[in-house]
Amino acid sequence: MSEEALLEIRDLDVTYWGRSLLGFKGKGFQAVKGATLSIRPGETLGLVGESGSGKSSIANTVLGLVPASGGSIRFGDVDLAALRTRYPPQVRGQIQAVFQDPYSSLNPSMTVEDIVTEPLRVHTAMTRDERRTRALELLELVSLSEEHLDRHPHQFSGGQRQRIAIASALALTPKLIVLDEPVSALDVSTQNQIINLLYERRDALGIAYLLIAHDLALVHHISDRIAVMYLGHIVEEGPSDRVYRAPAHPYTRALLDAVPLLDPQAQRRRRAVRKALPVRETPRVAAKGCPYRNRCPHVMPRCAAEMPPDYPVDGGGTAACFLFDRSAASAGADAAGSASA
Ligand SMILES: Nc1ncnc2c1ncn2[C@@H]1O[C@H](COP(=O)(O)OP(=O)(O)OP(=O)(O)O)[C@@H](O)[C@H]1O
Ligand SMILES: [Mg+2]
Repeated sequence: MSEEALLEIRDLDVTYWGRSLLGFKGKGFQAVKGATLSIRPGETLGLVGESGSGKSSIANTVLGLVPASGGSIRFGDVDLAALRTRYPPQVRGQIQAVFQDPYSSLNPSMTVEDIVTEPLRVHTAMTRDERRTRALELLELVSLSEEHLDRHPHQFSGGQRQRIAIASALALTPKLIVLDEPVSALDVSTQNQIINLLYERRDALGIAYLLIAHDLALVHHISDRIAVMYLGHIVEEGPSDRVYRAPAHPYTRALLDAVPLLDPQAQRRRRAVRKALPVRETPRVAAKGCPYRNRCPHVMPRCAAEMPPDYPVDGGGTAACFLFDRSAASAGADAAGSASA
């Protein structure tokens, strides 16, 4: 798989360095801890996890907005993590981004035409007329039209603004679009429209997505694979359907439990199970051991001693959890039992 990967992130660390009042480098806060992920051409990787887990830190490192403090990010022949300067021309333009807040991410003084054609102005030698023609094509791709070209962002709804941001990200037909919670700020029906739009464009243009979301249920249809983050670690990764239907890591199961079930009986059963779980306080970052152990209903002594490695899971992918350590016979039986619970 690694030979065909478009983007290969290995052992990525991201540390933020605060500054003290006197300007000395303060103590660092490590937001991403040894994350490994890869995306093949045309593939969508959904990256989910609760607030503060480090999703945007990964996205921003891929985009060159935040430096990596360790590990590598291979894109084609280039290690993005090792670049200390702006991305070289063969990379810029190949990676585009769409951010969460459509109200602040678009420059209010620019017209839609300016916004959508900005990447063309920066990266191509197209004339003004050629750019306008391309802008029209791009608006059509996102179901907007010519009449919108001369308007400003404030004249659009949140969903329309996100369409404009997507049109701009598509302008150069990049190889990868990093979408950091592109629908979180939108109402539910608009969320689905934008997800569908992304889905169609991806299939038509063969673009890969790194799609960040809180809500696994919302992105599992469009994602080929899903990675789950918890406190800076990728705790589970695998084919989207497997992760959604048979989540392996106890954290992924808890994340999916947050989604209401349609079947009231199943919902009642789940509530009963949840009530029986011991209440564990908000997580403190574990210096060693599993980051989820303070909240985990399956915690074992070894979880405090060492960070679980990535174990293979039936149906594909991996989980960083000792329940999937097949060399420990009893733990293996436990994992099989709870995964089907
Ligand atoms: N510029 C920064 N300086 C210091 N700490 C930061 C900075 N940016 C993020 N952090 C911290 O890093 C951790 C991960 O943040 P990040 O934004 O990557 O999380 P996230 O998963 O994207 O969360 P959300 O779902 O809320 O967007 C958080 O604890 C956050 O407070
Ligand atoms: Mg974020």
